[in-house]
Amino acid sequence: MCGIVGYVGRSEAAPILLDGLRRLEYRGYDSAGVAIVDGDKVETRKCAGRIAALGKLMAEKPPSGTFGISHTRWATHGKPTDQNAHPHFDASGKLALVHNGVIENYQALKDQLMRDGDRKFSSETDTEVLAHLIGKLYDDSIAEATAQDSNGNATNAPPLNQRGLLVDAVRAALRQVIGTYGIALVHSDVPDFLVGARRGSPLVLGVGKEENFLASDVSAIVAYTRDAVYLNDFDVVAVERDKFEISSVAGEAGSYQLSKVEFSDADIKKGDYPHYMLKEIFEQPGSVRDAMRGRLSSEECTAKLGGLNMSPAQLRDVGRVVLTGCGTALHAAMVGEYLIEALAQIPTEVEFASEFRHRNTPMTRDTLVFAISQSGETADTLGALRESRRKGYRTLGICNNVASTIARESDGGVYMHAGPEIGVAATKSFTAQVTIMTAIGLLLGRMRHLSTSEGTRIIDALNALPTQIEEVLKLSDEIKAIAKKYANAPGMLFFGRQFHFPIALEAALKMKEITYLFAEGHPSAELKHGIIALVRPELPSVFIAPDDAVFSKNLNNIEQVRARKGPVIAVTSGAGADRLAKIADDIITIPTAPDYVSPILTVIPLQLLAYHLAVELGRDVDKPRNLAKSVTVE
Ligand code: F6R
Repeated sequence: MCGIVGYVGRSEAAPILLDGLRRLEYRGYDSAGVAIVDGDKVETRKCAGRIAALGKLMAEKPPSGTFGISHTRWATHGKPTDQNAHPHFDASGKLALVHNGVIENYQALKDQLMRDGDRKFSSETDTEVLAHLIGKLYDDSIAEATAQDSNGNATNAPPLNQRGLLVDAVRAALRQVIGTYGIALVHSDVPDFLVGARRGSPLVLGVGKEENFLASDVSAIVAYTRDAVYLNDFDVVAVERDKFEISSVAGEAGSYQLSKVEFSDADIKKGDYPHYMLKEIFEQPGSVRDAMRGRLSSEECTAKLGGLNMSPAQLRDVGRVVLTGCGTALHAAMVGEYLIEALAQIPTEVEFASEFRHRNTPMTRDTLVFAISQSGETADTLGALRESRRKGYRTLGICNNVASTIARESDGGVYMHAGPEIGVAATKSFTAQVTIMTAIGLLLGRMRHLSTSEGTRIIDALNALPTQIEEVLKLSDEIKAIAKKYANAPGMLFFGRQFHFPIALEAALKMKEITYLFAEGHPSAELKHGIIALVRPELPSVFIAPDDAVFSKNLNNIEQVRARKGPVIAVTSGAGADRLAKIADDIITIPTAPDYVSPILTVIPLQLLAYHLAVELGRDVDKPRNLAKSVTVE
């Protein structure tokens, strides 16, 4: 959510910053801007709209200079306008700042700044207030240092440490801030120098050769360096071409760890696919395989998840599980609830992270909490994780982004290994999450009553998945034809039972996100308790009805829709296809799989249905309206 890129080195900053912003556009695309220091002035270009609009502006009047900052915005305070686009400036016009996050006490800080002197603010943003505050503190400290110089010691006084004073001003300002921030700033009086800081909003330092980078996400800079330092909350980093120094907002010296970024620039290219979303849907045979690679033991008929950092006795004694997350991750948690309860018979609750963190969920001492998040940066999920840890519960992360905040702050966990997910609508991360949920269910089950033969059956079913997913992907053209057929539909209803009820929710979420059509998911049996009032010839109902123990129950519900002339699209398997042939209008037949792994297969045709319908409707699939990947604000 909002993207930051900063550069200091020997190359022209403009193309590097613009390239980084293009790679981060999935984090926000309301407006964008750059500030590059050229001699003693800061050149800025910014505008509402996509990065392409900024690129045009920069091409018309190219800014020059070897250090600068840039930003792509997802509006929180203030509409997406040219004025509200970042960077924002202090009163002197010499300090430019970009910011992700929300400064909650910005009005109080603004009032205080106004009391200290008449100031003009040119935007409605909280960010501009922070720029003014840092600028004022810096100007005051320069004035103070200069006054001492002119006090008789001018010639012998040590040279003014502008870099140190700027970092001090940043620290002093951030000590007054309530809220969250990932920031990067430049000052035209302080050459070849960037300052960055974070609290609650990710910021990473990219370490290059005679050049260094700041970014809210490594994917922005991985084309230039794979050496990264993931900053911690309250870190302040002073960045020069050939060195950097990390300290805390409080002023203490900081430590850091240099990490190698796991993926390369090639991994975040769209290749021949028209959209990232389609590429990521088609990556699922590999991403599901990677999510379970090295984690299944045929010998012991169980899963091996060493990252949980739990002894066999601790695993055996888990008495309750709480799964928390948001959006798609929450739907994966809901599948997890069915899986853990079925395989391990452990009472499991799913909690919206945003609710969990603010309510007093009853917990027992033996409760194990999982925070599920692709990005590992979602503010609500992070809040839930912190609340759970604060209360002393063992809290584990299931994340895709290595070294993300949730991954670092949890007591252990499981990485998804799904590879970078750029499409705003989550796809491959969902199937990776469900794969991991199955592995967790298997592990906890095998610590209890689950037999070796049952364990083996689940492992075999998991191992068969990548090939079965390939079979499902072959249906893409068939699904595209179905999407075309229903292109004029006012929306869609989705129904599923048991493990497939969360799939109905997830399918409806995908449909809403990228087609902007009305879509709702429900347990199939709920149809007759009210939803049936919506059924009519124009509104298709999608039933997830594989050939399983509840197939005949689903069939009843399908008949109820048909009796009211509602069109039916069915996702089924095995004998289900024959039984539905005369009842459903459209049938998508996927390979047969046991209940425990079947949700991974049923969701994929529905990802494709949403995708093809969105393309048919001319939607911007990878950057849907109002959305941004990784929601780092509350
Ligand atoms: C849906 C989607 C969102 C995210 C949600 C959680 O396609 O992308 O609903 O799933 O914002 O994000 P993470 O998993 O990064 O915590």
